Amino acid sequence: MARIAFVNGRYLPIDAPAVQAEDRGLQFADSVYEVWTVRDGRFLDSTGHFRRLLRSLDELRIPHPMSVAALDVALKETLRRNRLKDATVYLQVTRGTARRDHGFPAADTRPTVIITARPSSSAAGDARAERGVAVITRPDTRWARCDIKTTGLLANVLAKQDARETGAWEAWLVDTEGRVTEGTSTNAWIVTSDGVLVTRPITDNILHGVTRAAVIEAARAEGHTVEERGFTLEEAHAAREAFITSATSLATPVVEIDGRPVGNGAPGSVATRLRELYLASAHER
Ligand code: PDD
Repeated sequence: MARIAFVNGRYLPIDAPAVQAEDRGLQFADSVYEVWTVRDGRFLDSTGHFRRLLRSLDELRIPHPMSVAALDVALKETLRRNRLKDATVYLQVTRGTARRDHGFPAADTRPTVIITARPSSSAAGDARAERGVAVITRPDTRWARCDIKTTGLLANVLAKQDARETGAWEAWLVDTEGRVTEGTSTNAWIVTSDGVLVTRPITDNILHGVTRAAVIEAARAEGHTVEERGFTLEEAHAAREAFITSATSLATPVVEIDGRPVGNGAPGSVATRLRELYLASAHER
């Protein structure tokens, strides 16, 4: 079956020419995006991802292309037309098409809206979480507004490719003070030898992960202490557990950092439990 994409109100074969040569998403990465995981036809953490989408648009002064209700219908219709129940759904909104110029185009320029959906196997994600993943570390060379979910992801792309070429799943990015900011497409966590969960606070230099926020809440409800602060690689190497969170990885244990085992080298019980808790409640939000 041909995959179908939503582009500016139309449902088209994914390989149909649909976006123009001077689209600002293409020319300047002048665009934002969101990612949802769908399990059994239900969007996980839908509200949080819509809320962040609006924030990203507002921070960049891109007009809202459609109401949230209309976008929600389009996301679900894209899922339906692709006959998917377990999926990853991507939404991109660009500032639209206009003669190339760095300054904003005319106020009546319509944003471009693109929605794509693809199958994602929950079994494959669960198996990965049961094995745990390896991460490498790379300097964080991104811009200073990583809280905005823009499609300007070149530094992330290069670091992820380094991870792939090293046989790792993710690259953790490290700031100039030696503290981990986040992964290329995930938030980064450790559990210290005292059992304290540590993840970076939400400032301008990380994405305010929707999964991160839900996992903090779940962890605190379970009686864990969560410290929102940066951690160094030395702390990570001494940690009992490490894990990543994101819409696509949910909570996934990290068992190796730069070739060195984390804790006893097996997925940690805290991360494993938080993954279960997340999955049990995310479709309700
Ligand atoms: N990535 N940090 C970065 C840089 C990200 O790109 C993401 C999400 C996260 C986690 O955020 P959330 O929990 O809201 O998904 C953190 C998505 C999944 C992606 O680009 O595929």
